[in-house]
Amino acid sequence: MTITRDSHPTATIVDGIIRARRAVRYFRPDPVPQRMVEDILDVARFAPSNSNIQPWHVYALAGQEKAALSEALSQAHREDRHPPLRHIPDPLPEAMRVRQEAFGSVYYGALGIPKQDLQQRTKVTARNFDFFGAPVGLIFAIDPSLTKFSWLDYGLFIQTIMIAASAIGLATCPQVSFVRYQDIISRHLDFPDGFQVVCGMSLGFPDDESTVNRLDMAREPVDGFTRFLGFGD
Ligand SMILES: Cc1cc2nc3c(=O)[nH]c(=O)nc-3n(C[C@H](O)[C@H](O)[C@H](O)COP(=O)(O)O)c2cc1C
Repeated sequence: MTITRDSHPTATIVDGIIRARRAVRYFRPDPVPQRMVEDILDVARFAPSNSNIQPWHVYALAGQEKAALSEALSQAHREDRHPPLRHIPDPLPEAMRVRQEAFGSVYYGALGIPKQDLQQRTKVTARNFDFFGAPVGLIFAIDPSLTKFSWLDYGLFIQTIMIAASAIGLATCPQVSFVRYQDIISRHLDFPDGFQVVCGMSLGFPDDESTVNRLDMAREPVDGFTRFLGFGD
């Protein structure tokens, strides 16, 4: 018997949360109590990891602590002395380059910023360092001796945070942009020796008035990235 997902009540709820999640970049200023953040992390810690090593170290910032880090990063961003972050290879494999370009058109198009307007685009990038106005900022750090497999674990942990947050009406934006300022963040948060920034995340209540929070970023259909072998049905 084939169980269809839409006839399964748990799948309906879980799928709904996964499908409705968006990278949110406009937040309401309402504070998020520490208890809510703790509860989200308390769910996310059940994410799997290779040999259960649980490589995550989270810095959860609010209030003055978040404001002070944001200020230091925003200043560094204005000064523009750090080397640009090369987190995506250039050139990207063609299919991914096309998707990246489509992302840019949808996002900057929704903000009304033309492709050539680099000054406006830089201003938009700068909002990353204010955690897009969210009341909570998360910084994820990792021990530098770990391999890419632990970074894979970390991705699972981060997605679990985003799903756990969505389930209680909170929104998130994962942000690699913070990695550019590894030196400032590690000093500011007093990282253990050599610890690296994996990424950051904005967390808060979404501003439901913002249409930019509701952009549909296209996804490939399953047969675009999967080869089914040996099923025979
Ligand atoms: C690891 C990671 C890093 C990201 N870094 C940033 C970032 O620095 N700034 C930003 O605005 N969005 C960032 N994003 C959000 C992506 O642009 C977004 O997830 C993607 O366009 C798909 O849109 P969706 O999440 O709304 O479905 C990041 C996403 C991931 C998974």
